[in-house]
Amino acid sequence: MQDDIEKTLFHATTILSRLDALAQEITEEYRGKELTVIAVLNGSLMFMADLLRRIPLPLKLDCISVASYHGGTESTGKVTFNQLTIPDVADRHVLIVDDILDSGLTLDAICEKLRVEGKPRSIKICVLLRKIKARRVPVEAHYVGFDIGDEFVVGYGLDYQERYRNLPFVGVLRHELIGAL
Ligand code: IMP
Ligand code: MG
Repeated sequence: MQDDIEKTLFHATTILSRLDALAQEITEEYRGKELTVIAVLNGSLMFMADLLRRIPLPLKLDCISVASYHGGTESTGKVTFNQLTIPDVADRHVLIVDDILDSGLTLDAICEKLRVEGKPRSIKICVLLRKIKARRVPVEAHYVGFDIGDEFVVGYGLDYQERYRNLPFVGVLRHELIGAL
């Protein structure tokens, strides 16, 4: 699996020390507020687990599952929700946790659905990675682990065709493997 990685971008230790700082910021912001974290499956699993264990607040946790990729490396533009109902977030402060902000289509669709159907008090977005590129829709992340270039990355929850999620670090997938797996 490691042989498929062209270069490591963020080692496990680098990620965890960045999470210490991010968790501290989030803790300050939501102290005394009714916080619900919504983790976006499956990509945010590792990030969510490591981040939330660093936030000593009485938060609630829910997950939602969406499909937007359908196997390639480019978003298809269509976001499908894999459950019939969204978590109950009425009057709660919502923090959406996702792996990566790329085109913005996924997070935009999730925010919109939660806003319209959930009536939360506030919604903010936290991502491990943010690609520096033009978004297809205007969506801002309020908490960002790391900014990266417009490269296809895997590991620490991020996949290529459902592989590599269990790598403990984030790296760039060897170019020749895209389309070959
Ligand atoms: P969007 O293009 O911002 O809607 O991103 C949709 C989803 O595509 C993300 O939640 C990731 O699951 C996936 N994705 C985007 N860029 C990458 C990448 O570089 N590696 C792995 N998954 C990615
Ligand atoms: Mg994802």
